[in-house]
Amino acid sequence: MFNLILFGPPGSGKGTQSQLIIDHYQFTHLSTGDMLRTEIERQTPLGMEAKKFMDRGALVPDEVVIAMISSRLDAQGNAKGFIFDGFPRTTAQAKALDKLLSLKATSIHLVLLMQVPEEELIKRLLLRGQTSGRTDDANEEVIRARIAEYYNKTSPVADYYAQQHKLQTVPAVGSIEEVFARIKQQIDKRFAELNLHSVSSHPRS
Ligand code: AP5
Repeated sequence: MFNLILFGPPGSGKGTQSQLIIDHYQFTHLSTGDMLRTEIERQTPLGMEAKKFMDRGALVPDEVVIAMISSRLDAQGNAKGFIFDGFPRTTAQAKALDKLLSLKATSIHLVLLMQVPEEELIKRLLLRGQTSGRTDDANEEVIRARIAEYYNKTSPVADYYAQQHKLQTVPAVGSIEEVFARIKQQIDKRFAELNLHSVSSHPRS
């Protein structure tokens, strides 16, 4: 099993690159943002509570997202590996994830920090906001609030993984294909270090 965290600010391409990684490596995608948006669409109590935070660009409370991830991990017993997209976003979430994975006798193998200048992030999200219908892309004020939340609460989590020697940075500007090539290089390098198949879509567990 191989577990990857795609880490980076809003608009850095975590969701976009997750799809390419899934196509190539057949990992299972776990995006807390997607899970929360599904809860909102279904108008569940959890979704209605989360929406209050998301609409203003704030993080949803830790206990809500940790519980969601925990139940998804339990439901995906046969996965070859997981891509965590948008989780963890606080040190409390990172510690909870380590515990959940250790219960499954596995751990995080690689954390990729996607680096994009702030003005490019804003440009990408405003552009997507013209068509996405995402309330948190609707105006620059909310987008800047999301980015501020990232730098205040999420960015420090990178140190947690750097101390474990799991963090690698990826310049995430350029075409989507160019960024994917850099990500693939990092994943294959880590496969080799762990003695897993490097190119195959079927890493040994
Ligand atoms: P979430 O859904 O995780 O959103 P986000 O982190 O704000 O990230 P985005 O989806 O906006 O960006 P991305 O990095 O995935 O980039 P993407 O590929 O989409 O979270 C939303 C909210 O949910 C949070 O604000 C919070 O309230 C809550 N939440 C979620 N998880 C939580 C957690 N763990 N704890 C607490 N709260 C949580 O790309 C963005 C755009 O850029 C797209 O239009 C794409 O086409 C474009 N693009 C991508 N790559 C390129 C490129 N190379 N060049 C040009 N354009 C590009």
